[in-house]
Amino acid sequence: MEQNKEKMKEAAAAAAVDALVKSGMKLGLGTGSTAIHAIRRAGELIAQGVLCDISAFATSFQAEIECEKLGIPIYPLNSREFSGGLDLTIDGADEVDPQNRLIKGGGGALLIEKLAAYNSALFAITVDKSKIVPHLGTGFPVPVEVIPEARVSVTKALEKIGASVILREALRKAGPVITEHGNIILDIRFSAPVDPALMEAELNHIPGVVENGFFSGKKPVVYIAHSDGTVEVRAI
Ligand code: 5RP
Repeated sequence: MEQNKEKMKEAAAAAAVDALVKSGMKLGLGTGSTAIHAIRRAGELIAQGVLCDISAFATSFQAEIECEKLGIPIYPLNSREFSGGLDLTIDGADEVDPQNRLIKGGGGALLIEKLAAYNSALFAITVDKSKIVPHLGTGFPVPVEVIPEARVSVTKALEKIGASVILREALRKAGPVITEHGNIILDIRFSAPVDPALMEAELNHIPGVVENGFFSGKKPVVYIAHSDGTVEVRAI
């Protein structure tokens, strides 16, 4: 039977939580319409007493508020509880390439999402199959988080390396999106596929860039929901 996209997101998230989350874990919780299903599934298992002693790190206000609603205890990454490291982070993604490299940041939370992912022993991504692409950089725009003072200089530097650049505009607020860390987002696209690892490093060398949405340095296990209700697990 064909499943709608919301059901697919829910299936991928539940499969990842059920397979990977164990009692006692320090858990990074991602952001977006797929990751929220993982938070809800973890909350459900905690409420049922199936999981206990979970401490969570929320990657955004969205994740934090959902954890509060569900009674999932959250701590700062700098806290003694975590000492900067997590056992597992579960998140969503905007695109996944054949080597499980990602574009993330459609929800603007890329900075803290990358901090959680790169500081987790295990990183899991949950997506529906529409997120699987042959290459990164030409389809879904790559978000680049930039300090406001560097909007023009970074735009010029990005155009110089061949990117087209769009300032992310807010909805229901005039002007640009301001991230949870007071920065703006430049969404960029390339006319041809790029090497995600090289580009991830190159973008972060531009003065004024805080972080970018290529995730190539930490390979996730990817849970891919298909329209027939099955969930494929892809680890590389
Ligand atoms: C937020 C993200 C999200 O995980 C990504 O945009 C996917 O979101 P969704 O599951 O809603 O499609 O990176 O910054």
